[in-house]
Amino acid sequence: MSRRVVLGVCGGIAAYKAVEVCRLLVESGMHVAPVLTEGATHFVGPLTFSALASEPARTTLLGAPEPVPHTTLGQSADLVIVAPATAKLLGKYAAGISDDLLTATLLATRAPVLLAPAMHTEMWEHPAVRANVETLLARGVHLVGPDAGPLAGGDVGVGRLADPARIVDAALGLVGGGSGPLTGRRVLVTSGGTREAIDPVRYIGNRSSGKMGDAVAAAAARRGAEVVLVTTTSRPTREGIEVVRVESAQEMADVVLDRFDRSDAVVMAAAVADFRPKTAAPTKIKKGGGVPEILLEPTPDILAMLGERKAAGQMLVGFAAETGNLRANAAAKLTAKRLDLIVANDVTEPGSGFEVDTNRATLLDSAGGVDELPLMSKAALAEVVVDRIEGGLAARDGGGAGP
Ligand code: C5P
Repeated sequence: MSRRVVLGVCGGIAAYKAVEVCRLLVESGMHVAPVLTEGATHFVGPLTFSALASEPARTTLLGAPEPVPHTTLGQSADLVIVAPATAKLLGKYAAGISDDLLTATLLATRAPVLLAPAMHTEMWEHPAVRANVETLLARGVHLVGPDAGPLAGGDVGVGRLADPARIVDAALGLVGGGSGPLTGRRVLVTSGGTREAIDPVRYIGNRSSGKMGDAVAAAAARRGAEVVLVTTTSRPTREGIEVVRVESAQEMADVVLDRFDRSDAVVMAAAVADFRPKTAAPTKIKKGGGVPEILLEPTPDILAMLGERKAAGQMLVGFAAETGNLRANAAAKLTAKRLDLIVANDVTEPGSGFEVDTNRATLLDSAGGVDELPLMSKAALAEVVVDRIEGGLAARDGGGAGP
């Protein structure tokens, strides 16, 4: 049976991000009951949550479907999340004040509670808020975020709502999540850009941030897969993902090839260098020695090697960052590397390149299917890619073909 989660939403500008939290929770197999404070309804309409959640959004103690809603919701929940949690909510919860459905639910529940605070830095740092947070933590309440970054009104500082995917990961950790449609599957994902040493301080690199691969790894883990992330980045990853850090294409090749036979699907989202210096200087190259000539040689094409070794039940997903002729180039790579799916994007398009949080991709599969996707967040694109993996692996089990 799916876990029951009450998603409380308070009145703050970050309330719009709670919509994504709601969607990701549902996608992870949770039964989500949204509860909006009166303040929240000024920022986002209850209808938005009702459309995405497992049951209609509640906004008041009165008029709810059950006779005693102020206790029923909290009693039947496996987890209560509040995102965003405002300073007011923290204060009321710490003081035991219950004057609306959300605070009543928080007092009535014995389930774990996860708060994702969001507010301006000054408020977050105020001694009263600090004391309330300390009180709640001492009572066993869990906290995710807040993060540092841009805040409403042009401010920058600590107080930003944690990333929705991180909130959902924390939630899954609390309800013993991790079981889903990919349970029992092993998925290997690569992310980031490789660094090819010129000397001990310099390297040839690229602009890949690793965000896309990290999002794919998190999405697969949320659906229950056993995930290995082979990455050049050092960003924090979701609990439960095995992270192997590498630098160069060769190191990445060694790890990926070693683990390939044990993987049901491999997603090569990393930007692997195509060339590396033939030899790396053992000491720093000095300016005084004149302009150096750096001779390059090809790196191993990891994906092509995996394509050669691929067994019938395995799925291979590649990425193609192009600067023109998107479909033709991606289709050629799909065939040459024996891939099941390729995610192609034109990195010169606005919102579609490196270091941004969005992507506009075209998916090409080995059955000849072409899916031109609209501009979407990398997290949403990761879900689409993992949908295809889920479908592809299930089809292989059932003797079907293609992703
Ligand atoms: O041929 P191209 O480098 O554009 O192919 C991109 C895809 O191949 C990506 O999925 C990338 O991770 C993978 N690749 C690889 N090894 C390389 C170069 C690229 O696995 N040496």
